[in-house]
Amino acid sequence: MKITVVGTGYVGLVTGACLSEMGNFVVCLDLDLQKVALLNAGGIPIHEPGLDDIVRRNVAAGRLKFTTNSREALEHGVVQFIAVGTPPDEDGSADLTHVLAAARDIGRYMPSAYTVVVNKSTVPVGTGDKVRQAIADELALRGATASFSVVSNPEFLKEGAAVADFMRPDRIVVGTDSEPALGVMRALYEPFLRNHDRLLSMDIRSAELTKYAANAMLATRISFMNELALLAERLDADIESVRKGIGSDPRIGFSFLYAGCGYGGSCFPKDVKALAKTAQDNNSPLTLLMAVEKVNERQKNVLADKLVARFGPDLKGKTFAVWGLAFKPNTDDMREAPSRSLIENILARGARVRAYDPVADKEARRILGERPGLEIVPNAYEAATGADAVIIVTEWREFRTPDWDQLRALMKSAVVIDGRNLFSPAVVKAQGFEYDAIGRRDTRA
Ligand SMILES: NC(=O)c1ccc[n+]([C@@H]2O[C@H](COP(=O)([O-])OP(=O)(O)OC[C@H]3O[C@@H](n4cnc5c(N)ncnc54)[C@H](O)[C@@H]3O)[C@@H](O)[C@H]2O)c1
Repeated sequence: MKITVVGTGYVGLVTGACLSEMGNFVVCLDLDLQKVALLNAGGIPIHEPGLDDIVRRNVAAGRLKFTTNSREALEHGVVQFIAVGTPPDEDGSADLTHVLAAARDIGRYMPSAYTVVVNKSTVPVGTGDKVRQAIADELALRGATASFSVVSNPEFLKEGAAVADFMRPDRIVVGTDSEPALGVMRALYEPFLRNHDRLLSMDIRSAELTKYAANAMLATRISFMNELALLAERLDADIESVRKGIGSDPRIGFSFLYAGCGYGGSCFPKDVKALAKTAQDNNSPLTLLMAVEKVNERQKNVLADKLVARFGPDLKGKTFAVWGLAFKPNTDDMREAPSRSLIENILARGARVRAYDPVADKEARRILGERPGLEIVPNAYEAATGADAVIIVTEWREFRTPDWDQLRALMKSAVVIDGRNLFSPAVVKAQGFEYDAIGRRDTRA
């Protein structure tokens, strides 16, 4: 099938690459000249395990192309995906500027043959109608007629496991009121569903809401555990024991039950806000969800609060090692990462930060820039050298078994503050460290 993907970011690039891997001919369009130039030179703009192989193989086979030329891209596809960003507007609602610009571009150049326009961006309920209207307006402007359907096909991939998620999806949600469009979507996804059918078809509005509901549910679990962890600290109970105790109930399950220093990333924070705003606008407020966000905002300060509790509010003259900058492991994405608010807080209190991340160092330099007091260094032990404490912010695997002797010898004082509960408190203490974590028993001095 001939496919166009508008927007070549985390979602668009993975979608385009994985569809080309199944034999489709894919053209990926992006406005970002640098990104497209990098892709055309054989580079990959994001860190995503397994993606570079798929991209290189399919580019070499002539099935995957990247361009900034809208006409070239949009005259190509019988299926046209919209996978552009939907950042939060000032009031928390999803900003549809990019989605509607992409829809107008599609209307400007789409072929006259039947075309399925697939919205993969996360968008509020009702956006399908706006996309349809924007395309129809452009067609009318150029006096053209074309037959097309608009489909909602929200994306559920997880950064860091995006290729695996796309290749072996839990489910594929297709929202459409058109039988022909559903047929096209089934044919497109059939190679990904050979094991058993996991395509769920529904109306467009329900598909749009499903995406927000999924992220809102996951964020709710995290905030619930984070709030419970604070209570566990007061009660001298252990949140890890509680997690195991409730996760083993099959009605609850273990996923997304880890207490930590707050959720981040490009999706949860903005999607929670956008759904809460939709609910408010429709006079049906989601009180629970508003609390989820509030809890997360507080939780993002929990590590700074622990530092202040240990070292006092004035941190001048201190140096802290920050282990992990990405919002989660296996990605270089730092959008809304808890590391960012922590680093701001430490620098504002006059201390120095030596930060390390296995893959997000380049992104960190781009986002944080040159800052007095901030150094991004190439390994975890260099970050810890001379540090008053190591603070764990992202649960990268390489942090799970530190060389405690080396660490103790390098650090100014043997203190670990763990925002991801990576260690058993008894083990760290037996190594001669002071250890504080999130909601752990026996972690405080
Ligand atoms: N990142 C994720 O893990 C994830 C998962 C599921 C859903 N989503 C949703 O998918 C959408 C895309 O997210 P992302 O993380 O890939 O965003 P991103 O910011 O990484 O990429 C978006 C890309 O679209 C390009 N773009 C913007 N307007 C354009 C236009 N008019 N024409 C062509 N290109 C244009 C940008 O230059 C950018 O490269 C969002 O709605 C997001 O909520 C993201």
